[in-house]
Amino acid sequence: MLIRPYRTEDLPALKAITVAAFEGVSIDQGIERLFGPINGRDWRWRKGRHLDMDAARDSDGIFVAEIDGRVVGGITTWQDLDGGIGHIPNLAVEADFRGQGIGRQLIEHALDHFRRHGLSHAKIETLSQNSVGQHLYSSLGFREVARQIHLVTELQHGTEATSCVSP
Ligand SMILES: CC(C)(COP(=O)(O)OP(=O)(O)OC[C@H]1O[C@@H](n2cnc3c(N)ncnc32)[C@H](O)[C@@H]1OP(=O)(O)O)[C@@H](O)C(=O)NCCC(=O)NCCS
Repeated sequence: MLIRPYRTEDLPALKAITVAAFEGVSIDQGIERLFGPINGRDWRWRKGRHLDMDAARDSDGIFVAEIDGRVVGGITTWQDLDGGIGHIPNLAVEADFRGQGIGRQLIEHALDHFRRHGLSHAKIETLSQNSVGQHLYSSLGFREVARQIHLVTELQHGTEATSCVSP
């Protein structure tokens, strides 16, 4: 297994692996469960687009795991250099290759990348139902600092909201 820097041609494979991996642990999928597809787009499209955005934001911060020339996983990162914190928005390993330490090595690779750039802390988010994520991240030294609640409402049209008027 080799961990190497991302290349533009990795994007379709990385998107497919990430979308498949996030089945059951995706906020967008939770939104779709309640509201159905929004604007004609399903949660898979939305999840795939996160990877497009990660690549646009910092393609040098993406690393892929490759076995026999095939991408089997990847991690995306971006850096707040002024704030000193490296962020990990997406991490996924293909189902058949899980439990072999690839996810752990991808995170360690990202943490080394942050250290090389002078960052002092790293941040990752996981859902409360993601027991693998919670186990893995805490075993790598990440400590829970907060739990967040995601809320979505459907916008009603035809009744304009009263605007707030400053005194
Ligand atoms: C999270 C993910 C990237 C981990 O990849 P991986 O290659 O399987 O990771 P590793 O093999 O390095 O480690 C997995 C760890 O989870 C543990 N684990 C496996 N199943 C578990 C479960 N149901 N509950 C708790 N821990 C579990 C393993 O024992 C291992 O821990 P260990 O090294 O202490 O033994 C992979 O599971 C995945 O793609 N999941 C779906 C997408 C996802 O959740 N991404 C992260 C979103 S925050």
